[in-house]
Amino acid sequence: MTRKLTPGHLVIASHNEGKVREITALLGPHGIEPVSAGSLGLPEPDETGTTFAQNAALKALASATASGLPALADDSGLEVAALGGRPGVYTADWAERQWFEGEPGRDWYMAMGKVEGLLAQQGPAVDRSAAFVCTLCLAWPDGETVLFEGRAEGSLVWPPRGTMGFGYDPVFQPRNAALTFAQMEPAAKHAISHRAKAFEKLVAALF
Ligand code: IMP
Repeated sequence: MTRKLTPGHLVIASHNEGKVREITALLGPHGIEPVSAGSLGLPEPDETGTTFAQNAALKALASATASGLPALADDSGLEVAALGGRPGVYTADWAERQWFEGEPGRDWYMAMGKVEGLLAQQGPAVDRSAAFVCTLCLAWPDGETVLFEGRAEGSLVWPPRGTMGFGYDPVFQPRNAALTFAQMEPAAKHAISHRAKAFEKLVAALF
């Protein structure tokens, strides 16, 4: 039987404000008091894995062992069919502003433009389908881990639309929707997102 999560503190093993906000909202109804890895001053491990599952596990384990609390990590990204699944686990890396030396940070408009530039090279009839993928890993301080996966299928639009959400939300239009994730109210995105689908599985197994 899967080990259950009891009410109390849980570390959100992420330094990404958008993810922390969404995970906090998704955990809200379950009696969990989330605290972010950033606010506890926990280190951010290098994401050296080559799969979402490996990266989620290494982030969750790093926070769980450092804090002595259960920790939840999300590794997620955008898989673009015409790009052979890229950027995939490198979705965040495509936003690194390498050429502004000494100025850390990510530029999501540059990253979305990079994806669009690669699609444009394949001509106007290119397959624009894409999926957001989310792998959640819950780690306990003794090293036990459990994984849950969710996908949201859709297509990429250009130019970007909307100002809500985070990351690549302005170019992702979920299947059967007229709005991008960045044009949707948070509750509407949470009803259908890859993260929400992974969460449904987590809630069913752990609460
Ligand atoms: P990582 O999981 O920290 O490696 O980062 C995954 C990256 O994928 C994020 O920084 C975002 O750019 C992107 N991403 C993941 N989930 C979403 C989402 O719900 N909306 C928009 N972008 C996302």
